[in-house]
Amino acid sequence: MSVHSEIKKITTETLRKMKFDKEKITMLTAYDYTTAKMVDEGGVDSILIGDSAANVMAGFETTLPITLDQLIYHTQCVVRGVERALIVADLPFGSYQSNSEKALESAVRMMKEGGAHAVKIEGGIEIQKSIKKIVNAGIPVMGHLGLTPQSIYQFGTYKVRAKEDAEAEKLFSDAKLLEELGCFALVLEKIPADLAKKVSESISIPTIGIGAGPDCDGQVLVYQDMVGMNQGFSPKFLRRYLDLYTEITGAVSQYVKDVKAVDFPNKNESY
Ligand code: KIV
Repeated sequence: MSVHSEIKKITTETLRKMKFDKEKITMLTAYDYTTAKMVDEGGVDSILIGDSAANVMAGFETTLPITLDQLIYHTQCVVRGVERALIVADLPFGSYQSNSEKALESAVRMMKEGGAHAVKIEGGIEIQKSIKKIVNAGIPVMGHLGLTPQSIYQFGTYKVRAKEDAEAEKLFSDAKLLEELGCFALVLEKIPADLAKKVSESISIPTIGIGAGPDCDGQVLVYQDMVGMNQGFSPKFLRRYLDLYTEITGAVSQYVKDVKAVDFPNKNESY
């Protein structure tokens, strides 16, 4: 029996069962083959090809510029490195908001060409027709409420969302609606921990938090942030597990010194 056949793949059903069993769900982003392989081997339950690729891979200030073709490419790269985790890919800004036919077309491309197992889209009642259409086609949909970065120009800031009653009530009813529409899970980004707890206890699908406190059913972080590659980004919710920015710039500067000093390559490193 090959090693591969022993790996039990994570599915949307696994995540549902984990919520039921009160086992926390782990998710990280990845955008390339090498990282996806390490993240999968590290044991995360799900990998997100987030539109945050626009920020951390391409250097844009917002997530808006990334295209469906570009996210499909990143997804193809990740899929080749993953054996176990559930692969969820973001649908980018402009690929699902205008009408439900376009939303379905985008989701189908992401599944067929990208090889994702599910798609994630941002928003509540405003995009209900798109969610319904995609779910009805048999494509698992992860919702995303709270700070939805594709709406940054409407919000004006990246501050915590839903602190006021009216926005908190809308978020709560949107969460219930997403569950009714058939979403299999829901990302809650940058909202008060109490609200995330209330939502998580009120719906049967798993909530995955980022800056939403400890009572979500799971947690997600952007890989570059959690390994400390991205020094300029330090929100309160972020825990850095490494300082790779310092490690990598140190290694590069040592390499530069070694080459300049004709210390690299040495005899053993030459043919
Ligand atoms: O694009 C992304 O990385 C995300 C996560 C922050 C949830 O949407």
